[in-house]
Amino acid sequence: MKRAKITIVGAGNVGASCAVWAASKELGDIVLLDIPDFADKTKGKALDLAQCGPIERFDANIVGTGDYADTADSDVVIVTAGLPRKPGMSRDDLVATNVKIVGSVSEQVAKHSPNAVLIVVSNPLDAMVYTAWKKSGFPPHRVVGQAGCLDIARYRTFIAMELKCSVEDITALLMGGHGDDMVPLPRYTSVSGIPVTQLISKDRLTAIIDRAKMGGGELVKLMGTSAYYAPAAGSVQMAEAIIKDKHRILPCAAHCDKEYGVGGYYVGVPCVLGAKGVEKIIEVELDGEERKMLDSSVAHVKELVALAETFLG
Ligand code: NAI
Ligand code: 2OP
Repeated sequence: MKRAKITIVGAGNVGASCAVWAASKELGDIVLLDIPDFADKTKGKALDLAQCGPIERFDANIVGTGDYADTADSDVVIVTAGLPRKPGMSRDDLVATNVKIVGSVSEQVAKHSPNAVLIVVSNPLDAMVYTAWKKSGFPPHRVVGQAGCLDIARYRTFIAMELKCSVEDITALLMGGHGDDMVPLPRYTSVSGIPVTQLISKDRLTAIIDRAKMGGGELVKLMGTSAYYAPAAGSVQMAEAIIKDKHRILPCAAHCDKEYGVGGYYVGVPCVLGAKGVEKIIEVELDGEERKMLDSSVAHVKELVALAETFLG
């Protein structure tokens, strides 16, 4: 069977971690690409990772490069190129620089891998996935953003910590943009089928939700840069769903038009993810309060996209 080809653009903290997760899951051959000035460093990272194969027992060709020719005909491209936030910065402070980076990367990706599914990770996520869609010229279902898989993993982790139970038993839903106004939904959160509201008090649940919403900032404060292991794991979870055509239902930044009345923007919603990319957006019923929170998150996404568009050219 032909191996899938996965390109990861941006071989920094998130990109290199994506390569590690993808290799360890033996998802396919991997191309790590960074700017030509960092080609040697990127080659070194790829070689270092390839040498994990005999220990971790994976077979994969892993190439480090600064040349898009090496990425040709990738099945999945994960875009992590761009600046991360530093202490004191919000994700939104990155717009001006990252629009240019993600815009040019997307054009190159579309040229060399016209049939790929693009998973965008660079921040501010909702505006960057929109930028990638515009600049790649790909149909909206073949461009998707990673944020929900991470945000929901944080939320599930904190619930499991609270209940001292396995993270595997927590299922949850989270929607909206990848900002502090993301919308975790306790009404759609359960622990082995038991509604979480029966297991955790309202006050504690509110504290957990707040911690999940600020989860990125908590890590920036601790590490001096943004998180990478879990963001990469979330990105590779999506890549796996696509490569294996699993039809997984995952929270992704998907292009919503009529869905949720969003009107042509990328926001976090539950999606069916398979070989074609986003195969379906699932519309769940929201009560008045949930709808209000989603609307406010979407309004923020629209402001960010308007700002991004001023730099798009
Ligand atoms: P990093 O600084 O460690 O790595 C970024 C890499 O992108 C660098 O190696 C840089 O040389 C490269 N790069 C810059 N311009 C490029 C170009 N034109 N072509 C190819 N490569 C280029 O940053 P890190 O921590 O890996 O974060 C990457 C991005 O992911 C940031 O924008 C960050 O905010 C975002 N992020 C998003 C998350 C999400 O859940 N959506 C979570 C964590 C980070
Ligand atoms: C995070 O949530 C900064 O988006 C990044 O960790």
